[in-house]
Amino acid sequence: MPESSEVQRGLQDVVALESRICFIDGKQGRLIYQGYDIRDLAAYSTFEEVAFLLWNGRLPRATELTDLTHRLGARRELPAALGDEIDRLPADAHPMDVLRSAVSSFATVEPAETKPDASAIAGAERLTAAIPTILGRFHRRRRGMPVLKPRPEMSAAAYLVYALLDRQPTDLETRAVDVALILHADHELNASTFSARVTASTLSDLYSAVTSAVGTLKGPLHGGANERVNALLNEIGTPERTTEVVRAKLARKERLMGFGHRVYKVEDPRATILREWSRRLGEAKGDLHYYVLLRELEKVVFQEKGLYPNLDLYSGSVYALLGIPTDLFTPIFAASRVSGWSAHVLEEYQDLRLIRPTAKYIGAVDLKYVPIAQRS
Ligand code: CMC
Repeated sequence: MPESSEVQRGLQDVVALESRICFIDGKQGRLIYQGYDIRDLAAYSTFEEVAFLLWNGRLPRATELTDLTHRLGARRELPAALGDEIDRLPADAHPMDVLRSAVSSFATVEPAETKPDASAIAGAERLTAAIPTILGRFHRRRRGMPVLKPRPEMSAAAYLVYALLDRQPTDLETRAVDVALILHADHELNASTFSARVTASTLSDLYSAVTSAVGTLKGPLHGGANERVNALLNEIGTPERTTEVVRAKLARKERLMGFGHRVYKVEDPRATILREWSRRLGEAKGDLHYYVLLRELEKVVFQEKGLYPNLDLYSGSVYALLGIPTDLFTPIFAASRVSGWSAHVLEEYQDLRLIRPTAKYIGAVDLKYVPIAQRS
């Protein structure tokens, strides 16, 4: 048997590939997309511009941004066969399961987008444009509401709210969602992006890669954490109960959702920005209930376990303040991260090598095969 090298559990600190897309400085709490600090992008940019940046490696010129915005607006409509398929899924399915199935089915109705090369950028635009429509289609159907016609003239952020809630968001709401989309767009080799790259590295197509990624994002240790934060807040109820609930969870060795991170050793810079948006939106709506509870939770979790908040701690409060149901929080994460997943898939196609690590074998060898009739 060949000698095995040291195992890095969870691939922690393993440098798996070179990438120009995203840089995380876990010690300084900095996040960079293609050279640009997330704080500047959250202050001045839009989701459409960030998607262009991730896909093309540079900021767009004005005409390029207008063109991309038009293309994304024009590609929101679902193929009829896909809409029918979504309508046939059980109404009590989790929207992440619906999204994963819908992305997978997309490839069967629009196979032209599945060529594994740089032209997959058309597929990246198509999925980015259509995911809000998929989510809206399913959500409205399960509530017994009629299908909405896509609104091509709306920004990505406004359309996401419209597709789910059938209303035009206010300027403040639109900007809050836009910032949330910008902050969720990419995060280096997080688990879902890695699974997208693994799939692409076999020369499989973008839609297969995004299907893998949606399934990976769903887990509560990854994107699924934002929904669980809401459950935690409901369990806590009032700020006075925070210490008691946190201590009980830690004593049972339970994970506190929205806290901790593999890479950040300080506060996740995305949490810093979303905290502010949670407060701004809460003030505008006269409802600081989430903000007050979350602040108290942060304080107690730091005292009790020394953990910092991550992005998922505050995102749900922003969506909940808009009136979006909890089980759509992780799908909204996907509606943004699809831009990063596809940027990584495009990068993988440009510098492709099959991703195939090895395992340190700790099982038996040389066992003698015993015919079934002779086994005790
Ligand atoms: N609650 C309680 N304990 C925690 C937490 C947490 N949220 N995070 C880490 N720890 C503890 C863990 O129990 C262990 O403690 P000990 O050494 O006493 O046994 C120590 O910290 C190291 O944990 P780990 O699991 O080895 O660390 P990791 O780098 O594998 O975990 C993580 C990273 C994100 C999975 C983890 O922090 C976690 O489970 N967080 C809660 C889920 C969550 O919020 N996920 C969102 C991540 S960021 C955005 C996204 O990807 O969606």
